[in-house]
Amino acid sequence: ERLPELLRAMPKAELHMHIEGSLEPELIFALAQRNGVAIPYASVEELRRAYAFTNLQSFLDIYYAGASVLLKEQDFYDMAWAYLERAAADNVVRTEMFFDPQTHTARGVPMETVVNGLHRACADAQPKLGVSAALILCFLRHLSEEEAFETLEQALPFRDKFIGVGLDSSEVGHPPEKFARVFARCRELGFHLVAHAGEEGPPAYVWSALDVLKVERVDHGVQSAKDPALMKRLAQDRIPLTVCPLSNLKLCVFPDLAQHNLGALLDAGLVATVNSDDPAYFGGYMNQNFTQTFAATGLDVQQAWQLAANSFEGSFIDAAAKRAYV
Ligand code: ADE
Ligand code: ZN
Repeated sequence: ERLPELLRAMPKAELHMHIEGSLEPELIFALAQRNGVAIPYASVEELRRAYAFTNLQSFLDIYYAGASVLLKEQDFYDMAWAYLERAAADNVVRTEMFFDPQTHTARGVPMETVVNGLHRACADAQPKLGVSAALILCFLRHLSEEEAFETLEQALPFRDKFIGVGLDSSEVGHPPEKFARVFARCRELGFHLVAHAGEEGPPAYVWSALDVLKVERVDHGVQSAKDPALMKRLAQDRIPLTVCPLSNLKLCVFPDLAQHNLGALLDAGLVATVNSDDPAYFGGYMNQNFTQTFAATGLDVQQAWQLAANSFEGSFIDAAAKRAYV
């Protein structure tokens, strides 16, 4: 009983969550009504019943459909605010939130609507909730390099409102190298760099995220355990892995939580962290990810503190602030 209480109470940073993945069915229905957008589900319950995923793509199809109710700046604010309140309740004191602008600009929503709504919620979070919140713009890897460059161009007028760029969506068949030039440009511009790699894709994708894209963190990265040389590299360079246990469970990356390799990653000395990914779809915010994973795998108190320390070490807060936590 003491371990779950510690897991809930300890201050922590969340480094891997997609703000569109925090859209709860109730808010999807409320926004659909407010905006006059039709959705192909009769009720909240019917929508929730559709959340039975077999792999990443089966989730992404429904995740992009859910995001179609977002039209106005206030919609983006309301979505982010609902997440930030949940984060505060879980003692998340720092969060670095992904957003997928191409999901919205492709529907005719202006970049400024997306960025301004999300950023206003982040700015309110510190004074009103005690949560430090920042944004990371993700490129959709199933789209082209050219579309990623156009998205970067559209976002640059708002460059002070996001701290980094990432790479998400359908992994297999869309290796990091596809975005080598986009990431090189983002690096010149001074953005932090992260990428999803090794969620469903092979260790080779993690290698190219590191060596071609030059990312500072790897999102998921759990497939790295298949490659001992890669594990050594990640440990030596202290490259954080932003692991998402309940996501991995719901997308069938692991058959059950007891078989999750979080403990093995920690034992190998990696800077592994726990994160919620898409909490509205995967059945849990931060504290549920911690408590369910610890209950299933038998991780201990020391590993709880290690994960909290790793979350701050892996974050993009400044070095002085970091020393206060790790
Ligand atoms: N977009 C939202 N969640 C994602 C995930 N787990 N993997 C890749 N792209 C995503
Ligand atoms: Zn993700």
